Order: sequence, then C-alpha cells, then structure tokens
Amino acid sequence: MNNHKKTTPDKDTPHESAAKHVSGESIYVDDIPTTNQLLTGHVVYSPYAHARIKSFDLSAAKKLPGIHAVLSAKDIPGKNQMGPVIKDEPCLAEKEIEFIGQGIFLIAGENAEICRQAEKLIRIEFEVLEPILDIDTAIARNSYLGEQRTIERGDPQKELQTAPHLLEGELHTGAQEHWYLETQACLCLPGEDKEMFVYSSTQHPSETQLLVAEVLGIPVNEVLVEVRRLGGAFGGKETQANHYACWTALLSRATGRPVKIRLNRDQDQIMTGKRHPFRIRYKVGYDEAGKILAADIQLHSDGGAANDLSYAILERAMLHAENSYFIPNIRITGKVCKTNYPPNTAMRGFGAPQAMAAMETVIDRIARELGKDSAEIRRINFYGLKENNIAPYGEIIENNRLPVIYDKLIRSSEYRKRHQEIARFNQQNEFYKKGMALTPVKFGISFTTAFLNQAGALVNIYKDGTILVNHGGVEMGQGLHTKMRNIAAAEFGVDVSRIKVNATDTSKIPNTSATAASSGSDLNGMAVKNAIGKLKVRIAESIASHFSKEAGKGKQSIAEDIIFENNYIYDKKNPKRRISFEAAIPICYLGQTSLSATGFYRTPDIGFDRQKGKGRPFHYYAFGMAVSEVLLDILTGYHKLVRTDILHDVGESLNPAIDMGQLTGGFVQGVGWCTTEEIKWDEDGHLLSHSPDTYKIPTADDIPADFRVNFLEGYPNPNTIRRSKAVGEPPFMLALSAWLAIKDAISAVGNHEFEPPFSLPATNEVILLSIEEIKKKIQKKVSATLV
Ligand code: MTE
Ligand code: HPA
Ligand code: MOS
Repeated sequence: MNNHKKTTPDKDTPHESAAKHVSGESIYVDDIPTTNQLLTGHVVYSPYAHARIKSFDLSAAKKLPGIHAVLSAKDIPGKNQMGPVIKDEPCLAEKEIEFIGQGIFLIAGENAEICRQAEKLIRIEFEVLEPILDIDTAIARNSYLGEQRTIERGDPQKELQTAPHLLEGELHTGAQEHWYLETQACLCLPGEDKEMFVYSSTQHPSETQLLVAEVLGIPVNEVLVEVRRLGGAFGGKETQANHYACWTALLSRATGRPVKIRLNRDQDQIMTGKRHPFRIRYKVGYDEAGKILAADIQLHSDGGAANDLSYAILERAMLHAENSYFIPNIRITGKVCKTNYPPNTAMRGFGAPQAMAAMETVIDRIARELGKDSAEIRRINFYGLKENNIAPYGEIIENNRLPVIYDKLIRSSEYRKRHQEIARFNQQNEFYKKGMALTPVKFGISFTTAFLNQAGALVNIYKDGTILVNHGGVEMGQGLHTKMRNIAAAEFGVDVSRIKVNATDTSKIPNTSATAASSGSDLNGMAVKNAIGKLKVRIAESIASHFSKEAGKGKQSIAEDIIFENNYIYDKKNPKRRISFEAAIPICYLGQTSLSATGFYRTPDIGFDRQKGKGRPFHYYAFGMAVSEVLLDILTGYHKLVRTDILHDVGESLNPAIDMGQLTGGFVQGVGWCTTEEIKWDEDGHLLSHSPDTYKIPTADDIPADFRVNFLEGYPNPNTIRRSKAVGEPPFMLALSAWLAIKDAISAVGNHEFEPPFSLPATNEVILLSIEEIKKKIQKKVSATLV
C-alpha cells in the first residue's frame, strides 16, 4: 500500500528510553543529582487504624544532632488539606487517625538513620478506637463516603418477577497493590522568594503543583513540577503521589534546603491505597436460550478512610457493570463504604474490572445452569450492530467490534475443537483437570469527569532544525513519549531522530489532567498535532515565499501547496522546488517566523449527568477478547496457564511494539489480580502482605506457556489521533478469561454438575476449598443414590 514516496514515519520505533532502562541510565527522582545540602525526609505515620491523638511532644526529637526539622500539623503554613477532589484528607493528622499509614509528623535529617532515631524520641499518646475493616461491617454501621448512585433502564423489578429463570449471587473481589518498580518519591528544591521546584513521581503534575501551593500557602505560579518519567504508576500515582510532594515541600520550606522523600517497598505498601475491593450482589432474569432479560446489580466498594477518587471509580464500575451485553431492563446501584484502611485509589481499569468480574460470573453461571457453552451465552447477549446497541446510561455503542472479534477469535483459537479435547482430557484424568473460558472486554474511553478531557502542547523548533515537543502527559513506562514522538515525526514528515520529547513541566503546559483513563495518547496526541498544524502553516508560508523568490518570474508557490514529507518540504504543483527540513528552518528564522506554537484539544461530544445516570460519557469504546486454557492439579491447587489467545482492537496502532507490550503486560497484571495477589490485614488493620515475600505478583512462569496475541487488523478508529485507539487499561480485563478458566477446571472435578464456590483472587486456598466443596457434593449425591 505504501508507495516509496509516501512518508511512513517508522512507527515501529523502540521505546525512547528502552536502552537507558536496560543499562540503568534512565533518571528517576532518586537519581537526580543534587548538592551536599540534601536532607532526607521521613514520614512518621499512624500505628493504629483508628485512634485519637491525646498529646505529643517533639522536643527530644528536635534536639537530636543531625535533625533539621520535625513538623506537625501546626507547622503547615497553608491549608492542612490534600484531598484531590473532596477535601477530606488532612495533610498531617491533627486529632483523629483513620488508618495505619496516615502521616502525623515529618522529619528532615542528615540521613535516614538519624530520622529513624528521631522518630523513636517522639512522645505521643493515643486513645485507641474501634476500626471498621470490611465492607459488611461498614454497611451494617452505615459508614459511607457519599450517597448512593443509580443507573436504570426499563423495569427490572417487574421483569425479574416474570423471567423464566432467576439467578442470584454475591461476588467479592480483592484489593490489589500497584507494585510499580519505583516507589513513591519526591525531591524539592527551594528557589528564591516563595519558589518551590518539585521533582515528583506523579501522574498528575498540575494537581501536585496545586496541592503543594495550597499546603505552603503560596500562589500556584511559584511552584514548578517537573516529571521526567515514572518507574511505573498503574493509577497509584494519579492522586497519591501528591502526599509525598506536599510532605517534601513542607520540609524543604521549613529547612530552606533540598529534601527528598523516597519510600522503601514496605513503607510504600503499608502507606498507599490500593485497588478497591468490591462486594457485588446480583439478581438476573434470563430465558431458556440464556438471553438476559433483566438485572439488578448492587455495588459496594471499600473506599478506605477518605474519598480520593472512589466515586469516579465507582462510577466507572457502574458504567461497565453490563460489560459487553445488552440488558434491556437493568438497575445498577453503587455506594462507597468508609473503612479504616488507607484511601483506596485508581488502578488500571478504574473499577471496571471488579464490575466486569461480576457480569462474567453471571454469564458463566447461566451457562452452567443451562448446560450450555458459556461462549455461546456470551455471543447471544452481545450488543448488536444496529439494534440492542444502547448502553443502560443511554450511549449508543458505535463501531461495535464484538461480533467480528468473536468470530475471528473462535476460529483462530480453535475454540470448538479444543473445547472437545478438554472434555476428553477431563474424562481421562482424575487428578489433573483442564478448563477454558472466553471473555470479552468493552471499555469506555474518556475521563468520566467530562471536563478532564482536555490537553495542551508546546512545540518548539530550534535553528538547527531539531524539534522539542512538550505536552501535558507523563511517561510511566506505557510509551506515551514514544508515541508523541512518532506522531510529531509523522505530522512534520521528518525522522523521529529529529524530535525530542521534553520532561513534563507545569511551566510549559499549565492546567493539565492526570495521565490516566488510558487517554494519554488520545488527548496529548491531538494537542501535539494541533500545535504542529499551526507551525506547518507558518513554515509553509515562509517556504512558499522562498520558493517564489527563487523562481523569480516563474509561477509563484503558495502555502496551500506545500507538503512536508521524507524530511523535505516541497511544492506539490512543482515538486522540483524542494528543500530539506533542516535547511528550511534557518530560512524561516531569518524571515522572522515564529517557530514555537501551543496546541490544545478537548474531546468533542461527550457529557454525563451523574444525578440522572444518563448521557454520553465515552468518546468511543475499546474492544477485545481472550480465550484462556488452564491446567489444574486438583491435589495441590497449582495451575498453569497453558494457552491464551487474545484478539484486541487498537485501531491503527500508533506503535505496534508498544501496544503489544501494553496488551501482554496488562493481561499478566490482570492475571495477578485474579489469582495470586492477595492482600491480607490482621484484625487491627495491619497490613500483613507488605513485601514481595508475602505478596505474590506474577512472575515469568505465570505468563501463558503459549501466548498468541494479535491486533484486530483493518478497523481504523474514526475521530482519533491517526485513527488509533487507547490501549493502556482495556487488556487488564482480558485476564478474567484465565480466572473463569480456573473455575471451569474446578467444575470439571464434579463433571460440571455442581456450581463451584469461587471468588477473586482465586488463590490456591480458594481453589482447594472449592474443590473440597465439589467433592462433598459428589459424596452427598453418591450417598443419596445409595439410600
Ligand atoms: N504501562 C506501564 N508500563 N506502566 C504504567 O504505569 N499504567 C496504566 C497503563 N499502562 C501503566 C501502563 C494505566 S492505569 C493507564 S491509565 C495508562 O497506562 C496511562 O497511560 P496512557 O493514557 O498513555 O495509556
Ligand atoms: N479514569 C481515571 N481517572 C479518572 C477518571 C477515569 O475515568 N475519571 C476521573 N479521574
Ligand atoms: Mo489509570 S487507573 O486511569 O491511572
């Protein structure tokens, strides 16, 4: 398709920092060179999940040699508040403590050891109160962080009464640790007057900037936040990096010196919020064929002790509770429980995985009740192309790729043949069982808080023809900067080597949204394109007049005919008139042309009314499907993912290698949440799994032995940057195929006659207990027939 003349700005470029990541030369907050003035910042956090501070004495700690500051809430010059949306999170606790890990005092000292010694010298008296440590208790005590939300269509209560079949149940999903490789970190350098320079590992530089200004009591224009890159975030630094920035800035202001706070792994796991655990109750009515007629779904999430993003996360959960299925009569309600854990926060999928796990459980159970293959039940319930294509909240599911992905994946994964082979395997093997499941993902792209869907860019061209792209998004390993470089190269028609993407900087691009909701490349890509469009108009005018001058009396060149391609700029009506990009830029400069432009983008046509539960929250949807097969050792509960086939829609990929990394990495992170990652607390709210020896993230062995991952080819996405599709979060939820494949293998123990008890994560313990239950049911049935 590509003729040799057309520029194909190689989008197959490796991640712009890949070599540095491997060699260890990439610079993270902790690697930034500083002066010998640098002090270590240390946070003294609450040892109780719920308590009142009766009194404290910092004097001995302050006197320790090598200690430069010991601060309490009283020492905060600005507001003692760092809630991102709702102002319910004090920067330092004043009277009441609501979770273990809540900051109470800050220490700056010569090194970490001295800070720890100082901490031991702090005298503090607590009155210990009773904590709430689970969703059921929170509900029983009416402990919530806000009001109930509802999305409703049709008359589900009536239809549930008349439906031929009724299904009821409850699913609990577990928390999940983000386990970014770089723990929370911030370095602050005080400037002159009120200035504060903040190097933070944050997904949301503008919010970090605002909150630092608020706690310091200074104008926002005195604070500059710079982010070169994050060593992973996964949502864990969308709001919660703010805390470390606020604390570091307070210490830096108090001492007048550079200060750095960097958590060790245990501190990070103890202090930071996680993926929200959910309790989901469902009542579903369906017909003989397995078509869902009505559903009533109640979501309760564990928000922890403060709001953070819990309501936005609950909202996204509610907007994905039906996953890929058209349900004519449906009521979805949701409420966030207040407990005494660290405030739970954004994590890849943002509530959708939890709700989708429940809907996929429903489908799986309907199939088991009817004795049908669950993939069939899925197919007949999918949203349609022309009818049955409206979501419960009123958005039309446009460009629905579910049917095409299903057909292709069923074929390419040899689903039917393998389904039979697995049945045969299970007949022949007593101690090993196999299971398989296909699950779909439909994920809405856009921040559900509509105004957040905006982005800015600033593109500079320098006299040597090199280009510096600034945009508001942060690089957290997902390859955003690489994609922005690919986009800029394509728009300018030059090689990527000419383009550098700058560290994200609040003085270059103001008022940005978090890099989140998978929309980093959609939003910033459009803003970069917008800026480049302006520059190209100016360059075209300048070069057209240059060509005209050179042509003398010949036909004049006009800006509209100027083309940027293959590192050249030429007149398409007179292609001999051409000049290299590099040679053109000095001509533009001498012609007094501005070579710097800002760009802006806002997503058109979206909006959602929270109160009514209606609207068009999403610009478009990302679709994908996975088929997973597991082998289960029924004596130990050990299981192995033997094969996973994924077919996922990324539109026209902005960078195939990076998108492949997001697909495979997202899937495996999802497998961790579904299987081995179990967070445990003791009865007082202490985190028991606070290091990698007790918290098991996936390893190389957890990757499917046979992993076949493909993009849906030939389906460009309309109205997005270079017809691409967001890819960051959707693949996470494909892991539900592995989870339900395990359930299918357990079910095989009882020849698929009994419904296995199941929850998420399906740890070895859950699996073995479920197998025990099935065996008991088999026993009962045998003795019943004997009697
Ligand atoms: N990939 C890597 N390597 N590291 C990350 O921290 N975060 C995920 C996803 N992929 C993440 C990642 C999450 S939660 C989101 S919302 C998106 O990347 C954010 O980036 P994007 O909007 O540019 O896709
Ligand atoms: N995703 C991530 N962050 C957000 C969202 C979302 O949908 N809405 C508000 N903050
Ligand atoms: Mo991602 S959870 O939106 O940072």
